[in-house]
Order: sequence, then structure tokens, then C-alpha cells
Amino acid sequence: MNRDTARALLDFYAEAGVDVVIGELPVNRFAAADAPLSRAVLPAAMPASPENRPNPTLFVAPLAPDAAVMAAREAAKSARSLDELRTILEKFDGCALKATASRLVFADGNPEAKLMFVGEAPGRDEDIEGLPFVGRSGKLLDRMLAAIGLDRTSVYIANIVPWRPPGNRTPTPQESQICLPFILRQIELADPDILVCLGGPSAQTLLGIRDGITKIRGRWFTFDSGRREIRALPTFHPAFLLRSPLQKRFAWRDFLAIKKALDQR
Ligand code: URA
Repeated sequence: MNRDTARALLDFYAEAGVDVVIGELPVNRFAAADAPLSRAVLPAAMPASPENRPNPTLFVAPLAPDAAVMAAREAAKSARSLDELRTILEKFDGCALKATASRLVFADGNPEAKLMFVGEAPGRDEDIEGLPFVGRSGKLLDRMLAAIGLDRTSVYIANIVPWRPPGNRTPTPQESQICLPFILRQIELADPDILVCLGGPSAQTLLGIRDGITKIRGRWFTFDSGRREIRALPTFHPAFLLRSPLQKRFAWRDFLAIKKALDQR
């Protein structure tokens, strides 16, 4: 392939959101998906040079989805503290996203805070820094917090999925289900008084709601953390507000409601 063709192909990939190389040889994922309970080999660990090229037959699938969800439940349940949960997640190989992400994005802020925010999944900036909401949408979240007198010392922030999906694509329902036991345990251990779901996927996953975010934002729900019932509020995701600034007035209302709820405790 000549240089121009190769460049055009790379441009095409980049536009399609393909921004990581996870291997040098094709892998038949359909065949791999049938492999029972095998552990994932991290493609990031693949040697790059042709002479070191691994034998593709050595590539085994991540845990089958049901087994991965069960393994995640067991692993999450065993965590007695947030630090333990982080360590367990670092070692968990049941979610294929771990293979393409640079690092785990566990949480930011104050784990003792009474207010917890949960987003969807880390993006590129978060993947680089290992902290949630540090990119453009994170900066907007910081400004929204400042508007009600809060900052990252007074809130705790995490995501449903703690590894960046390649190209910032939406996590698949399967990936979210595999990661769900971990964020549920994280909420239980952090034990906030108020939970804010940032965006539809977070609200739908945590509150088991099917309605879209426009319909449910600003409405209080009850979230059973396993320890107790806490108040939960879905609001727009900051990334959506960056694309649709006119919706900020609704988010502002939601943040005032959050402040009021905090003051009333
Ligand atoms: N969007 C999210 O949902 N989470 C992040 O951490 C960053 C962007």
C-alpha cells in the first residue's frame, strides 16, 4: 500500500472513531466468544515487531458475558472499602474495555461527600489522566458545581463504566451490565445522601428507567443503595449541554434543586 492510500485509510479510521490499535492480526471474535470462561489476554501487551508476532490462536476471549456479570458481582461484593474496590477493579479482566483503555478511571473528589455524581464512561482526557470528568465536559461540570458553591472537595464523582470505550463510543449494554455491580458497590460504600445521574445512560442503568433524559431530568427518584434508600436526581450530561447550550437553563434548575436538597438535610 502506498503512502497516500495508507494515510487516506488512517483518516477514514480516525473519522469513524477508530483511534487505538489493539493488535496486528485479525481475531475471529465470533469463534472466541464461544470459548468458555477463559481469561482475556490484554492486546495492549502484544509485542509489536513482526518477529515477535503472537500466535493468534493464543488469543482467548474475555469471560462470556453472563460469567463476567457473575464474576463482577462476586468481586464487587467482596470489597470492604473503596480502596479495596479499586484494587479489585484493577485486577478484573471480565470487561473487554480494559484491554483498549490506558488505565482504570475509578473516581475523583471526596469519597466522604454527601453528593455523588455518576456519568457514563471516561473519554480520551479521562483515559489519559485516570480521573473522571477532566475534559471539556468536566470543566463545565466544575463551573456548574461552582455556581452552587461546590467543588471537587465537596462531591464524589464516578462513572458507570470505568474504562474508556475505544473512540469514545457508547458502552454496549453488555459492557454496562458487566461494570454495574462495581458502580453499585461504589455507591454503597461511598454512601452519599444524594445521587446525581449525569445523562440518560447513567439514569437508565442506575434507576432502571427506560424513559429518555428529557422526560426524567429534574424528577427525584429513590435509589436503594443496599445500605439505605437515597434520593437520586437525573440531569443532563455536561457533554450534551456543550452541544445544546439552550438546555443549560434546565440543568441550572436541577443544580438549584440539588443545592436545596443538600441544605435541607
Ligand atoms: N463523560 C462521562 O460520562 N464521564 C467522564 O468521566 C467524562 C465524560
